[in-house]
Amino acid sequence: MKIKVTTSNDEIRGLVSNAKEKGQIVGLVPTMGALHQGHLSLVQEANKKADFTVASIFVNPTQFDDNSDLENYPRSLDADIHMLEEVNCNAVYVPSSDEVYKDSKPFEFDFNGLNKPMEGEYRAGHFQGVVQVVKRLFEIINPDLACFGLKDFQQYAIIKEMVNQLNIPIDVIGCETIREENGLALSSRNQLLAQEDLQSALLISKALRLIQQNYRKHSPAELKALAVEPLQKEINLEYLEIADSDRLQPIESWSEAKHARAFIAAKVGEVRLIDNMEIF
Ligand code: PAJ
Repeated sequence: MKIKVTTSNDEIRGLVSNAKEKGQIVGLVPTMGALHQGHLSLVQEANKKADFTVASIFVNPTQFDDNSDLENYPRSLDADIHMLEEVNCNAVYVPSSDEVYKDSKPFEFDFNGLNKPMEGEYRAGHFQGVVQVVKRLFEIINPDLACFGLKDFQQYAIIKEMVNQLNIPIDVIGCETIREENGLALSSRNQLLAQEDLQSALLISKALRLIQQNYRKHSPAELKALAVEPLQKEINLEYLEIADSDRLQPIESWSEAKHARAFIAAKVGEVRLIDNMEIF
């Protein structure tokens, strides 16, 4: 079936209401475009539970803390729509900023500390922008479920928190990170990497893997020191953190957490990349 493309709130609402009237489950996959297999895997996950899957493509200005990052963000709308159609996405909502934020009220959210560490520390205001746009997308599209990638684990945790706090009746599904065979997590920003930086970018997933594979032999502090060493020479590391997967706070000993993950953010050349892996 041909994918429906719309820029209008009323039109996407109409498509979703039609689907719901037929008793269909509606899934949503929010994106900022420049799509790759990681995004498409979210559509495929949504399709497993939903009868009507909507993707959104909107490069949300309020979540960028750096204007040149916003300007340089890759855009490839025609290719994106084609790729979505190939994975049987039913509709794609591609709004302007005015359309998304039309009639919306400012919204204060208690992050419960989840916005403090890691991305929150390095990208001021980023998560306020993310919750603002995701809440709007939820209001406009009103899906039964929404898929988010664990690649952006802190974002996923914050959206779960928002849905719980505000009692939003949407099932938030976390989807595994899709990687190149060499371990590099797929990201829209990878296409901005210079050829000579590709090898350095690989060090990120290698460091995470090292932590994941050796946690029984070392304390978190020892492992951080081991993993940081090869990174520092090659890339501009912002943080390497081992944290409790629920509270996202750094841990000093493994017994502090039921589940733990390792997180990295680094600049490789001019490109900022993030990745994380589950430890246990
Ligand atoms: P964007 O970076 O385009 O990512 C859209 C979704 O794709 C996010 O849920 C992200 O975690 C997921 N994703 C990205 N790379 C992935 C990979 N390699 N494997 C699996 N999933 C992956 O995240 C955003 O956009 C925005 O912040 C958004 C939620 C759309 C709000 O503006």
